Amino acid sequence: MAPATSSTSSAITLNINGEKHQLTIDHRTTLLDALRERLDLTGTKKGCDQGQCGACTVLVDSRRVVSCLNLAVAAEGREITTIEGMAEGDELHPVQQAFLDLDGYQCGYCTPGQICSAVAVIEEHAAGWPSAVTDDVGPEAGPPPLTPDEIRERMSGNLCRCGAYVSIVQAVSRAAGAYEATRDERRTAAAKEAAA
Ligand code: FES
Ligand code: FES
Repeated sequence: MAPATSSTSSAITLNINGEKHQLTIDHRTTLLDALRERLDLTGTKKGCDQGQCGACTVLVDSRRVVSCLNLAVAAEGREITTIEGMAEGDELHPVQQAFLDLDGYQCGYCTPGQICSAVAVIEEHAAGWPSAVTDDVGPEAGPPPLTPDEIRERMSGNLCRCGAYVSIVQAVSRAAGAYEATRDERRTAAAKEAAA
C-alpha cells in the first residue's frame, strides 16, 4: 500500500518511456533518485549529484535535463525518456548503435547520459539552434554544419572520466548524418500519423 501523503509528500504519476508510474514521494526527491531508488530505472547514473557531470541526463518533453537538479514532483505530466526507453524492441536507437559501432565508451558509466544528451543535440541542431561556437547566427544563416567543434561544444555538459571523447564525437556525427538522411521520411510518417 502506498504511504499516505503529508505536508511534505504527494502522490504523483510520472510518465516514463510511455508508461505511467504512480508513487507517493517526498517533495525533496530528485527525479534522479525517483528513477533509480523508487522505480528501479538504474540506467540513469549518479555522478556528481550537483549538475556538473551530465551522467544523470534524461529527456523531459524531448529536452535534455540533468535529473539530479530536477525534482520528481515537477516532472509530473511531462514525457520523460530515459536510456531504457531509447531502443524500439530489439532495435537500438541510431545514437546507441553509433556509440556501439564506434566504441563511444570505455567503462560505460557516462554513456546513458551521453546518449540522451546526443539525441537532444541532434534534434536541437536539426531545429536550427545555434551554439556558443556558431559563427553566424543571423536570420539568413540557416542551421550551422554539425562540425566536431559544434558537437564538442553542444556535448560539453557531459563529462567522460575515461576520456572517450574522440569516439563520442564521431558517434554523434554519424548518428546525426543518419538522422538527416531519414528526416523527410520521418516527417512524412509523422504527418500521416497526425492526419489519421
Ligand atoms: S549526477 Fe547530475 S550532473 Fe552529475
Ligand atoms: S566511458 Fe567511462 S566515464 Fe565515460
